[in-house]
Amino acid sequence: MEIKVFQTKEQIGAAAGKIIADIVKNDPAAKLGLATGASPVPTYRYLIGQYEAGEISFRGVSAYNLDEYCDLPRDDENSYYTFMRRNLFDHIDIDPANTHIPDGNAADTDAECRRYDALIDSIGGVDVQILGIGTDGHIGFNEPGDSFAPGTFRIKLHESTIESNSIYFKDGKMPRYALTMGIGTIMSAKKIILIATGAAKAKAVKAMIEGEVSPACQASILQTHPDVTVFLDEAAAELLTSEK
Ligand code: F6R
Repeated sequence: MEIKVFQTKEQIGAAAGKIIADIVKNDPAAKLGLATGASPVPTYRYLIGQYEAGEISFRGVSAYNLDEYCDLPRDDENSYYTFMRRNLFDHIDIDPANTHIPDGNAADTDAECRRYDALIDSIGGVDVQILGIGTDGHIGFNEPGDSFAPGTFRIKLHESTIESNSIYFKDGKMPRYALTMGIGTIMSAKKIILIATGAAKAKAVKAMIEGEVSPACQASILQTHPDVTVFLDEAAAELLTSEK
């Protein structure tokens, strides 16, 4: 794992965004694994800026999101479908037909999970996967547990995740379930970029980087991936022994 520590979120966005922009420049049909949440937003802003400056085009790019809430209408203001449109897709020239998010409202959840895995298998895994990390060490919505999930599945969200994300649900009706890529799906990415900022992430970041590889901290599996870069601010890095 390569660890990079920055002063500001904007610096992280520019550094992580440049890696992705270079991948897109080298391969106009690049396959991008995307995340929602606050962590990747400055990276998306950087990519939008590069598109507006005429530096890159997403016309041939395809995108595969990590996860989506269950039992939330696709067009709800808090769905990840809406999030991706607002924060990236509506501002670049990506073909909407090339943007993929698991359908959290599918009548047959198992069939939807198998469809999503088959889609990602069919491209041989994404070229680069962007990740955030939960305060409980989740990546995607792979919550702490006894094992690492191989493929996409339906998960009951943990209390800490509900607490972190319910700030976005003004009516308090945060969904309790989500569909998420499994750890196996995430690990099939050729390259992984994980972004974490703020002191609330410091314990999870330490467990991910310096703890044992264990499903109790799902992100710790990234220690076994050959190409992971972790972008941190000083607050998120503050408990790392190696950074002191
Ligand atoms: C989002 C996702 C989650 C978030 C994580 C951190 O698609 O899969 O794992 O990356 O909950 O969220 P933020 O970035 O809002 O702190």
